[in-house]
Amino acid sequence: MYQYKELGLHNTRDMFARAYRDGYAIPALNFISIEQFSAIMDACKEKRSPMILLASPNLHRQLGDEVMARLTQSGVDRLRNEGAGDVPVALHLDHGMTYEHCVHAIENGFSSVMIDGSALPFEENIALTRKVVEYAHAHDVTVEGELGVLSGAEEDGAHDAGYSHYTDPAMVQEFVTRTGVDSLAISIGTSHGLVKMKPNPDGTLPELRFDILADIQYRLPGFPIVLHGASNIMPQYVDMINQYGGHLEETIGIPEEQVARAAQMAVCKVNIASDGWIVALALTRRILAENPAAIDSRVFTLKVRPVLAEMYKHKIDVMGSAGKA
Ligand code: 13P
Repeated sequence: MYQYKELGLHNTRDMFARAYRDGYAIPALNFISIEQFSAIMDACKEKRSPMILLASPNLHRQLGDEVMARLTQSGVDRLRNEGAGDVPVALHLDHGMTYEHCVHAIENGFSSVMIDGSALPFEENIALTRKVVEYAHAHDVTVEGELGVLSGAEEDGAHDAGYSHYTDPAMVQEFVTRTGVDSLAISIGTSHGLVKMKPNPDGTLPELRFDILADIQYRLPGFPIVLHGASNIMPQYVDMINQYGGHLEETIGIPEEQVARAAQMAVCKVNIASDGWIVALALTRRILAENPAAIDSRVFTLKVRPVLAEMYKHKIDVMGSAGKA
């Protein structure tokens, strides 16, 4: 059993308190490869931004929680050795679906977990979340719950692609009080998947439900809110994927100015997965097409890392967390 503090990691409590007070959000970035992990740490170092590394249950199947924790430890050591000081980094289980997985992650060095009971009836969501909070808090690990359902399938297909409902502000106070969670993921119009918004009849994009966010902020003053499904699905990389043999049809991401606005309100953590995948895959397709005789994957991995790092630095600027480490 490892304790995250021994690995040099932080839970999210102080990160969120500062982010809430100063009106920014912490980037929470999924990684699925070493290049992506390294690019995130590069961005974190250059921008001196606190960071939350998101590890999904799928990544656990791919690498194992133990490897992820040790990898994160090595990243934090690297930041310190390269003179960046003690940049707060959390390792967070994204969409933990069971109590057992949350316990396993905590026992292997995660500093923060999400228990996603959002598809359960209210009382069952409360009971499951409460149980995770009791275990996690005994180890000083922070817990994110979820209320309301985002549309679009999760990475592990946990939710029905077509089903969603906004978070009901009238329920959040009871949920937070009875579960004891440290932060809450809400549904205000973001979604997982490649088509995140339905354009208005005049072609403009609708706004997220900032009225719901403001109502929740009013009912839970000072309480950190989390936004999932917030990728921008950058058209230049979608075009590159399609140009080099891919086939992505309609894509519509979340406009960055809306993410920035949410970050200035109660949103203290913004989850980004798809943008990292799209950039890495677009470049990989292009580089492989340009190097048909390549047999060594480093022909693309070495080139992907700096481009990803630039994209993550941009995310840090959008969320306002640069210089906040
Ligand atoms: P995106 O698919 O918009 O990147 O969202 C990722 C996410 O919310 C992971 O929990």
